[in-house]
Amino acid sequence: MSEDGVKESTKISGMKSLSARLLVFTIITVMISEVLIYVPSISRFRKVWFEARIASAELAALATEVAMGENLPQELQNRLLDHAGAHGIALTKDGMRIMALSMDMPTRVDQTVLMKDDSIAHLLKGAFQTLVQNNNRILRVIGPSTVNPKTMVEVILDESPLRMAMYDYSERILALSIVVSLFTAAFVYLSLQWLMVRPMGLITRSMIRFREKPEDDEAIIQPSGASDEIGIAQQVLAAMQRDLQTALKEKTRLAALGSAVAKINHDLRNTLATAMLISDRLAKSEDPDVREIAPRLIEAIDKAVTLCSHTLHFVGETGLHLFLERLYLSDLFDETKSAVRPIHLAHDAENETIWENHIPQMFEIDGDMDQLVRAVGNLVNNAIQAGATKLSVSAEESGPFIKLYLTDNGPGMPDIAIENLFKPFQGSARKGGTGLGLIIAKDIMQSHGGALELDSTGKDGSTFLLTFPKPVEDEEANP
Ligand SMILES: Nc1ncnc2c1ncn2[C@@H]1O[C@H](COP(=O)(O)OP(=O)(O)O)[C@@H](O)[C@H]1O
Ligand SMILES: [Mg+2]
Repeated sequence: MSEDGVKESTKISGMKSLSARLLVFTIITVMISEVLIYVPSISRFRKVWFEARIASAELAALATEVAMGENLPQELQNRLLDHAGAHGIALTKDGMRIMALSMDMPTRVDQTVLMKDDSIAHLLKGAFQTLVQNNNRILRVIGPSTVNPKTMVEVILDESPLRMAMYDYSERILALSIVVSLFTAAFVYLSLQWLMVRPMGLITRSMIRFREKPEDDEAIIQPSGASDEIGIAQQVLAAMQRDLQTALKEKTRLAALGSAVAKINHDLRNTLATAMLISDRLAKSEDPDVREIAPRLIEAIDKAVTLCSHTLHFVGETGLHLFLERLYLSDLFDETKSAVRPIHLAHDAENETIWENHIPQMFEIDGDMDQLVRAVGNLVNNAIQAGATKLSVSAEESGPFIKLYLTDNGPGMPDIAIENLFKPFQGSARKGGTGLGLIIAKDIMQSHGGALELDSTGKDGSTFLLTFPKPVEDEEANP
């Protein structure tokens, strides 16, 4: 992700903020639960409404029974029916009609509702049908009498008043739902805001600030002290930021030190080059005493130059610049030999080192010969300095790699060198050593896409393993 990308995504606003999403989510959840409550309750409402109608119808029928035998005047019948909200009422017992009242009887009945069918599915279906009707339907509702369950009450009535009542009821439920969901949402929102969003915001702000100014002490988060997950995250973040800050300060100091060393080295190398020239002339002096000290002077300066160039390489260069070409691996060993051998001979002409090259001729690599000679040269120097008299190399293919084994017959690596293997300045077990040779060699191998490892070491000698990637084939076809 680009710098801008990160900046963009840390600006949280509007609907994207956690609080807004939680708010919407809460409202939706409450609404859904209200619907789940509404559907069965509207069906129940319809059932209760019918039951009330049956009860009033029965009351009307009772009043009529009082006047048993006599023909009830139509006017009274009308009033009773009006009160029950019915066009007609009939009571039946064992299938026999025992009484009937009627007024403006409609010519048709659109639907018969049996109160004994009270399964949930049936009730839901009935309620739904009532709600979606446009016209008034005539319903015949049949249910048992409350007084005498053997008697069935039959009421003929209009559906519209029921629908109006159901609409009314729905409106009330809707209003209630809105109020409830707003209250719930507000409550949930505030508690989430307080418990999560606010402490998370603290973390986010601190992270943004720390990213912008990691060296600023103020950028480190002040944990709220809460013991929940977010509180712990804050504490961990604070610890992490402090560690990072310390590391950063250290790194800045080291970088400053590094560039200072690089500058000193650079000047020192020039001075040493001059000294080298002078001592070369001393070696040709007439005075035998002067001639005698000249080689030691040269050796001392040589050491100083090595130290300088090693240190410079280590602190000054970030990333090697390689000039890659196709090379024969066995040439690498021979080149190293010609670079290193004269120096060692100058020091110790008696003990000529034996060089054995067993690398198959055809092995090729892509590499920078000068750099690789430096790497292998460091390894070879170490071996000779440790007292090895024989060096041999062999190589083999291994998957996409070529492995080169460099074996010496020296005394093996000292413990301190093994413990601090590849650690700059720490691995030297040699008087006058820098402890940089191995790490520089490893650096060079790694920048070639390879690796350097200590394969084995013991009293019979040591073997280093240098891994090279095989050259890419098609490069050969189009150079
Ligand atoms: N082939 C080897 N045989 C024995 N000791 C070795 C060998 N290679 C490296 N060492 C040990 O590892 C140490 C670190 O080597 P190096 O990183 O080149 O630093 P330096 O040579 O400056 O001491 C040496 O001081 C030496 O003791
Ligand atoms: Mg060395």
